[in-house]
Amino acid sequence: MKIEEVKSTTKTQRIAAHSHIKGLGLDEAGFAIQTSSGLVGQEHAREAAGIVVEMIRSKKMSGRAVLLGGPPGTGKTAISLAIAQELGNKVPFCPMVGSEVYSTEIKKTEVLMENFRRAIGLRIKETKEVYEGEVTELTPVETENPMGGYGKTVSHVVIGLKTAKGTKQLKLDPSIYESLQKEKVETGDVIYIESSSGAVKRQGRSDTFATEFDLEAEEYVPLPKGEVHKKKEVIQDVTLHDLDVANAKPQGGQDIISMMGQLMKPKKTEITDKLRKEINKVVNKYIDQGIAELVPGVLFIDEVHMLDIECFTYLHRALESTIAPIVIFATNRGKCTIRGTEDMVSPHGIPLDLLDRLMIIRTLPYSQEEMQQIIRIRAQTEDISVSEESLAKLASIGVKSTLRYAVQLLTPCSLLAKINAKESIGDDDIQEINELFFDAKASAKILADQDDKYMK
Ligand SMILES: Nc1ncnc2c1ncn2[C@@H]1O[C@H](COP(=O)(O)OP(=O)(O)OP(=O)(O)O)[C@@H](O)[C@H]1O
Ligand SMILES: [Mg+2]
Repeated sequence: MKIEEVKSTTKTQRIAAHSHIKGLGLDEAGFAIQTSSGLVGQEHAREAAGIVVEMIRSKKMSGRAVLLGGPPGTGKTAISLAIAQELGNKVPFCPMVGSEVYSTEIKKTEVLMENFRRAIGLRIKETKEVYEGEVTELTPVETENPMGGYGKTVSHVVIGLKTAKGTKQLKLDPSIYESLQKEKVETGDVIYIESSSGAVKRQGRSDTFATEFDLEAEEYVPLPKGEVHKKKEVIQDVTLHDLDVANAKPQGGQDIISMMGQLMKPKKTEITDKLRKEINKVVNKYIDQGIAELVPGVLFIDEVHMLDIECFTYLHRALESTIAPIVIFATNRGKCTIRGTEDMVSPHGIPLDLLDRLMIIRTLPYSQEEMQQIIRIRAQTEDISVSEESLAKLASIGVKSTLRYAVQLLTPCSLLAKINAKESIGDDDIQEINELFFDAKASAKILADQDDKYMK
């Protein structure tokens, strides 16, 4: 099994609407602070989420599932993302939306399985022989191309490494020079090179350079202690999916087949059940030997009512398996038909047997005051200035329509205010924008009233 080349494939999140959320905002005892970490109100749900986080941290929750249920715009997605923030980046958190499973290329259960494995982490501890230190010199030595022609090739690379105890000069293979370039290693960086594989890891910039004027966010690390050549415990966090990908795709190499492989879009279907079984076997062995530790993370399935009965059955079974993450569902549906069935009506559109396993957290509609606070936080995040009374007006619109609609009015209102050469949004801007746009309810009412004017 390959471990060295495993790249993390954490899904990037597009959460612009939730960028103000920094955590659950609980105090030491686990009680919700009314306004904290970007979250307002919804205390019960936040406290419940806090307990879920505790259980995940103490690894007591693998294979369980939680459902966030509540009307639209009551912060279900927001709270789940807050859970992710609380867990930090060492615990995998894989967000997905129910409708993601529908694809013409990949089976539904395959999509679910992939996301399941993205949510299961593995912390691998290995003692490796490494050369570690601050780079004092980095000189590629060129020779004439042995194949003739004008080009020159790197025959080897000379690198100097310094630690608190001493310095060492190494003469390395050109292939390591490539990895050095990939990691963008420069003199003054602290790196280590694994002696068995030649893999290069850049740890950061040596802190002797910390005073240097630097625009980019750099991580400064102290000069390594001990000898340059030593045994080092290397910790790597990967997910099972990372391992699947790394072992399925042909990687690197200069021969034509692997070059072609890199050009072509990597197909997702390359990861077979057989491969997964193999990987599970190796992973289990590693766990038994104490080299690796399983870190069950979170699979967050938003809009869970979009899943159909086949997916639910699959999920139910997957939750029973020995390696399973914690699954958090969210939905704004009440009683509705389960997708893929003729007439099975069930709460939240989730089959009763699965529902029976779930711990349900409710989110409740916000009061006008809470809406005002949330809109204020959003305005601050988007760098829009609004007077207190205009905030109150937006909040009252929010109560009549939805929180989301009120939040969405902020940007057009600020544009209008700018056009009118004003510093901050005023009541008249809100009035005008609210007349130009309709919220869902108002629009539906117009549709109902003017039913005969629309195409049938
Ligand atoms: N308690 C809160 N504190 C701060 N911001 C919140 C809070 N609740 C919701 N928001 C913000 O309000 C907006 C709508 O909330 P969110 O998307 O979480 O609702 P939802 O319950 O997931 O709705 P839906 O059922 O439609 O998916 C988001 O921008 C969210 O960040
Ligand atoms: Mg949502």
